[in-house]
Amino acid sequence: MEIIIKRDAEEASLEAAALFRRQLREKPESVIGLATGSTPLRFYELLVEMGRERVLDTAHAVTFNLDEYVGLHPSHPQSYAAYMRAHLFNHLAVARSHIPDGMAADIPRHCAQYEEAIRDAGGIDWQLLGLGSDGHIGFNEPGSSLGSRTRLKTLTARTVADNAAHFASPGEVPRHVITMGVGTILEARRCVVLAFGAGKAHAVAAMAEGPITALVPASVLQMHPACTLIVDEAGAGALQRRDYYRWVYENKPAWQRP
Ligand code: GLP
Repeated sequence: MEIIIKRDAEEASLEAAALFRRQLREKPESVIGLATGSTPLRFYELLVEMGRERVLDTAHAVTFNLDEYVGLHPSHPQSYAAYMRAHLFNHLAVARSHIPDGMAADIPRHCAQYEEAIRDAGGIDWQLLGLGSDGHIGFNEPGSSLGSRTRLKTLTARTVADNAAHFASPGEVPRHVITMGVGTILEARRCVVLAFGAGKAHAVAAMAEGPITALVPASVLQMHPACTLIVDEAGAGALQRRDYYRWVYENKPAWQRP
């Protein structure tokens, strides 16, 4: 895993946006996996700015979102469908976008179709990920099978509390979600994980330096052949080898830079 430590969330988001732009330059019809949450908000703003300045062309890209709340209609302001419209799709054209349907009548069938759609698109080339404070990726909570596919999950009380800020009250946060599985995420050709702030420092260290365990689903990314973790100083606070990661980045060959 490559670990990039940036001064703050702004610098980290700029690095992620540069990597994204390089991906689309190399393959304009890339299949992109997208994440939600507060972490990638600045990243999305940067994509929109680059689109406006015509230094980024997403018109041929196909996107798949990681997850969605069960029971929220796409028009619900807290649905991830609404989030994606507000922060990206209303401002930047893509060829096709996919988000799990939280209102699907037959959830197992819908999940199987979602997996099939990813396969039919050729698989995910570039997957953006946030990190839950409990080490989840997508909505794969601790204990998730490391080989899991898109399916229904029940949120932990901690994730409900973490996400309650976006709802009128914790009672309104859905308990169930549809999420790409850990196995689905691992098949992406490249993963880029963003984690900012001291509240994520423990999860970051467990993900990058702890044992690979279902208790920290993100830790399985240690097995991924092309995973880049971009953190700010606060998010890097608990990493034991942070001086080495800085050293590696400073000495990165020019051809490896975005
Ligand atoms: C949420 C989302 C994840 C996100 C994570 C972190 O529950 N399902 O995709 O990466 O938790 O959220 P945030 O970026 O708001 O800290």
